[in-house]
Amino acid sequence: MADTSVLSVRDLSIGFKTDEGRIEVVDGASFDLFSGETLGIVGESGSGKTVTAKTIMRLLPSPPSFISGGSVTLRGPGMPEGMPELDMVKARENEMRRVRGNVMSMIFQEPMTALNPVFTVGFQIDEVLRLHCPELSRKGRRDKAIKTLDRVGIPAPAKRVDEFPHQLSGGMRQRAMIAMALCTEPDILFADEPTTALDVTIQAQILDLINELKADFKMATVLITHDLGVVAEICDRVLVMYAGRIVEQGTVMDIFDRPAHPYTAALLKSLPKAGHHQKEHLGRKLPTIEGLVPAPKDFGVPCRFFDRCGKAQLLCKQEMPPKIELGEGRWALCQFPEGKH
Ligand SMILES: Nc1ncnc2c1ncn2[C@@H]1O[C@H](COP(=O)(O)OP(=O)(O)OP(=O)(O)O)[C@@H](O)[C@H]1O
Ligand SMILES: [Mg+2]
Repeated sequence: MADTSVLSVRDLSIGFKTDEGRIEVVDGASFDLFSGETLGIVGESGSGKTVTAKTIMRLLPSPPSFISGGSVTLRGPGMPEGMPELDMVKARENEMRRVRGNVMSMIFQEPMTALNPVFTVGFQIDEVLRLHCPELSRKGRRDKAIKTLDRVGIPAPAKRVDEFPHQLSGGMRQRAMIAMALCTEPDILFADEPTTALDVTIQAQILDLINELKADFKMATVLITHDLGVVAEICDRVLVMYAGRIVEQGTVMDIFDRPAHPYTAALLKSLPKAGHHQKEHLGRKLPTIEGLVPAPKDFGVPCRFFDRCGKAQLLCKQEMPPKIELGEGRWALCQFPEGKH
């Protein structure tokens, strides 16, 4: 794994203006994404995975969302001329347009939210290429669209390119969306639950595809998922999110073999003891652990996992959990992490 950081997120905090006032949903997220790696983000529903990714891409409408602090620095080989790096928190929309879809792309759980039903697949890929690859002729763009559809495994791409999204099956639509995200050969791909809406066989195919493409395109991928099996299968490193905070970061091996945060340990407890590269994990959703993730308005106690944690002590209720370093690039946000005694 190369150690060039193509994306550095520091102390990113995100909130929403609601009828009940301002709520903070992501608190001080910090991480790096290194070139060529696949970084998994796991955590129960509502922990802030999508909000974090969409904020980084600046895809969340503001208002109601707002960034209350932090920075998101994008850099890397694909940056436009004269723009070696960009703080996306401060970037203007015209600067964002130069990098979004070009240096950094995103695919979603439900392809119909990314694909426009009234335009053909080819037209939509063409729109992306027109914006980001002005050097290509009309024919060049069409060729590239067909080539990318072919690359993502769409049969008869020269015919499919002129079809509308509803003419494709769910799995094919997902492939078309991936083609749209990848036609510009971005350095970074955000994939937010890209397979949850698909049946298990298609899920495995799409994951294999993402895995192959990441090698071909040498891109860094952020994979958001509920599925620990998927993480085990294709991620290099993992961020575990809980109630708006990243509570642990480590390599897949660290996280699966020696979880440090009690939340991670609880998540992993019900997984079979198979090695972390075993395909049989696939399809296993996050196990349910007793209790509920607090809603943002109930974040009160310094450690948000307090009510559900078997190891909690009074201190956890009184002081903000410290970020305890447990080795190179490995840390947990906890007073009493495993492996630190
Ligand atoms: N427009 C909004 N207004 C107010 N709160 C919001 C809005 N969008 C998201 N939230 C809140 O932000 C928090 C984080 O949501 P987010 O969608 O990022 O969770 P997630 O980790 O992606 O969950 P899931 O696994 O279900 O996709 C949740 O508490 C959610 O209710
Ligand atoms: Mg989500």
